[in-house]
Amino acid sequence: MPGHIAVIMDGNGRWAEQRGLPKYKGHEAGMDAMIEIVRHASDIGVKHLTVYAFSTENWKRSMEEVSGIFQLLIVYVNRELGELHRNGVCVDVLGDWTPFSKPVTAALNRTIELTKDNTGLRFHIALNYGSRAEILTAAKKLAETEGFQDIDEAGFAKLLYTGDTPDPDLLIRPGGEQRISNFLLWQTAYSELVFSEVLWPDYTPQELDKAIGAFAARKRRYGGR
Ligand code: IPE
Ligand code: IPE
Ligand code: MG
Repeated sequence: MPGHIAVIMDGNGRWAEQRGLPKYKGHEAGMDAMIEIVRHASDIGVKHLTVYAFSTENWKRSMEEVSGIFQLLIVYVNRELGELHRNGVCVDVLGDWTPFSKPVTAALNRTIELTKDNTGLRFHIALNYGSRAEILTAAKKLAETEGFQDIDEAGFAKLLYTGDTPDPDLLIRPGGEQRISNFLLWQTAYSELVFSEVLWPDYTPQELDKAIGAFAARKRRYGGR
């Protein structure tokens, strides 16, 4: 069982397009899929689940789409927080919070605060996340640290948004594209990659089990024999 699963939740737009629906409906269906996957990951005892919800590059989209995504986030946080908490899920957010509106910041803070002592699944939401921005921010912090010449890889990793979280064992990208799109570049150095044609809103717990099965059949070598 992979201890840490990371997911690039891609394909919401195409899912909506195929149905003649507005993009917003795709993002909404994507949120439903995410909740099911969180529940399942928690049930089967995954320790860390990281989802890519919004990238630093996604601001290039229309204001309408961007604000729709953030609105949905607030709706789902409010609706699902109680159940997540009851299931012992601990939520945190990876990314640059600076551009978030007051309601978004408040909803996220409430979630983090309520669930911070939970000991079940650690659910990390990458929001306004970009791996290059993360590494650059860490490098700037490092430059201000006394004795920075002595820092090793583990020490540098602690300065990333992911902090003490172990690296992903398995990185899943549904939606048909086979690229990383600026997600966890440092942390996925030795992650196993599983791609799927299924669009994210159609991604089910059974799909996750399939990806975990593929992972279990891999032989990880980390450069050795
Ligand atoms: C992923 O779905 C969600 C976000 C990037 C916020 P997309 O919206 O990228 O879906 P496609 O790739 O256009 O189908
Ligand atoms: C990656 O999907 C970002 C998220 C899923 C949040 P994109 O749809 O933004 O990636 P590209 O543009 O296809 O690389
Ligand atoms: Mg996409």
